[in-house]
Amino acid sequence: MDKKHLFAGSILSADLMDLGRDVEQALEAKIDIIHFDVMDYHFVQNLTFGPGLLKAMRKRFPEAVIDVHLMVTPINEKILEDYAHAGASMISFHPEATPHVDRYLSYIREMGCKAGLALNPGTDPGLLRYLWDHLDFVLVMTVNPGFGGQKLIPATLQKVTDVRRMATAANVKPMIEVDGGVAPQTVQACAKAGANIFVVGSAFFAQDDYHKALADLHAALQE
Ligand code: DX5
Ligand code: ZN
Repeated sequence: MDKKHLFAGSILSADLMDLGRDVEQALEAKIDIIHFDVMDYHFVQNLTFGPGLLKAMRKRFPEAVIDVHLMVTPINEKILEDYAHAGASMISFHPEATPHVDRYLSYIREMGCKAGLALNPGTDPGLLRYLWDHLDFVLVMTVNPGFGGQKLIPATLQKVTDVRRMATAANVKPMIEVDGGVAPQTVQACAKAGANIFVVGSAFFAQDDYHKALADLHAALQE
């Protein structure tokens, strides 16, 4: 994962009845990361994928980088273990989901995964200041979580800039992932603000041609 910009395809927008085929084609098209959204009907008003599906995906695609985004409350050891043991490469959760943010970020790393904190549009990034030692990446939600296909909220780009500045001031270089409404029209603004992982659901898995979708995104980054 040493490229400057990485694209993470969100399976929320895949054809769920043909998920294995879609993930295989996405990897063939050279998507960098598979983004695996976990929703529990409590933290957000939607319900998605569990560790059983992740385990099956890991078995079929042993080399894939799988990024588990937990939109779940509460966060505890059990849920982190379930997804780490099922094969997650990266795990993020939202700070509102537990009083033990520091402890659980380090626990994710202890289990051999990259650790990330996910921030909703209305969440103050100030707590990052105390957490850099445990963070591999920060996921900045550029829409309110729960559903694919929403429009990027412009104010969230200011947060990406703020997070990048805070990190630079602290002398650390976490990856910054943006999630929601990322498309050829918005990807360059995200990159300029300081993001380097781009989650793409509608702009990737919902498209007919994954090679073309990815080429369009890369081209938009160069403009
Ligand atoms: C939304 C999820 C996203 C979603 C993004 O709550 O966290 O990962 O799949 O979808 P698009 O790219 O369509 O906004
Ligand atoms: Zn997500």
